[in-house]
Amino acid sequence: MKFSKFGQKFIQPTGISQLMDDLGDALKSDKPVNMLGGGNPARIEAVNELFLETYQALGSDGSFNNSEETNSTATSSMANYSNPQGDAAFIDALVGFFNRHYDWNLTSENIALTNGSQNAFFYLFNLFGGAFVDESSQDKDNKSIDKSILLPLAPEYIGYSDVHVEGQHFMAVLPHIDEVTHNGEAGFFKYRVDFEALEKLPALKEGRIGAICCSRPTNPTGNVLTDEEMAHLAEIAKRYDVPLIIDNAYGMPFPNIIYSDVTLNWDDNTILCFSLSKIGLPGVRTGIIVAAPEVIEAVSAMNAVVNLSPTRFGASIATPLMKNDAIKDLSDNEIKPFYQQQAKTAVALLKKELGDYPLSIHKPEGAIFLWLWFKDLPITTLELYERLKEKGTLIVPSQYFFPGVDVDNYKHAHECIRMSIAADEDTLEKGIAVIGEVVRGIYDMAK
Ligand SMILES: Cc1ncc(COP(=O)(O)O)c(C=O)c1O
Repeated sequence: MKFSKFGQKFIQPTGISQLMDDLGDALKSDKPVNMLGGGNPARIEAVNELFLETYQALGSDGSFNNSEETNSTATSSMANYSNPQGDAAFIDALVGFFNRHYDWNLTSENIALTNGSQNAFFYLFNLFGGAFVDESSQDKDNKSIDKSILLPLAPEYIGYSDVHVEGQHFMAVLPHIDEVTHNGEAGFFKYRVDFEALEKLPALKEGRIGAICCSRPTNPTGNVLTDEEMAHLAEIAKRYDVPLIIDNAYGMPFPNIIYSDVTLNWDDNTILCFSLSKIGLPGVRTGIIVAAPEVIEAVSAMNAVVNLSPTRFGASIATPLMKNDAIKDLSDNEIKPFYQQQAKTAVALLKKELGDYPLSIHKPEGAIFLWLWFKDLPITTLELYERLKEKGTLIVPSQYFFPGVDVDNYKHAHECIRMSIAADEDTLEKGIAVIGEVVRGIYDMAK
């Protein structure tokens, strides 16, 4: 069969398709696999219990009743489409929740739901990146200008890479790499935004940037951009009249997998993206966008065409948990401490295995990963990935996390790996032992 250019773009092998295939194969495999590769959240008993309880209550609260009488109430959610903006009762609960915890003064016109936040990024990057009408052009026949999404700090989330319908429209700024200590220990580094390089980008001045976007905490690195960095980015976004998109998939107030002391701000020029995935519900595919009403209207219109209406299943489970703040309590008291402990365990294991080798770890500040830098590794981490896979351990090599960067000319992009810390302790131990053995062997061979 012949597929269109649109189809061809999506069926090419991509970083994310390899990752998802490996993840799927590992789950199906009958051989033991140390899964340190995926983005799946951990199984946390208290979390699962609460979701199960809430889920079981759905059957008795009228969620499946589509009679006229209940049609307009929140309790008939599952048996009816919502409007394209998303489940109204959940949106109202979110408005109440955010206004209780922040001084954002939101209304229901500031929130839209999507089928996962990946779906939101597909919309947003195609809304703000790609071909625009160039209002300033004098040439009547050539009034089009291509705009990119600016990623102020590479590396960034693998899932952004291939979402553009036409072309690749990312521009990324390479990081400053600072050596830092972590809990008083050496052997760590932290990426910081290179504002000097960013401000010099001709594309900003020439109006060829459509939006600025960062994940915070960052997937893959566990970095948390500081409040100062965020304020500076917000100021640049306003100066150039483009929105600042903040991917808050791991951030506060839920799942709150963030250990540094920072704040979360929102204003009309900010587009905040949340997700129910990392609180432990990736299968319900629920993303939440908080933005100015014109963005919400555009997203709702896209929802209507692509999905009719977004899924209401996650909304049904999360509505009562937003209303009584259980989602925040769960995040603060179960989810965050769990990952903080996992990061501590993984760091200790890595130091034990590779303490005498040129390993540097990105300071763990949040998210569900550690980002390891093997300085001057004699092979690329894509090759390392293959060697580890042969030994039943899955990680993700770094080269995929540099959308908008020419990785062929950036050695650092081939020296790092992302490892998940969501696995149980036994898997972490076995997986890190394999990483230790293989990496030690590679450095020793080159001596
Ligand atoms: C930084 C980041 N953003 C967005 C997503 C997409 O999440 P979902 O579509 O499950 O909401 C992920 C998933 O791993 C992520 O890590």
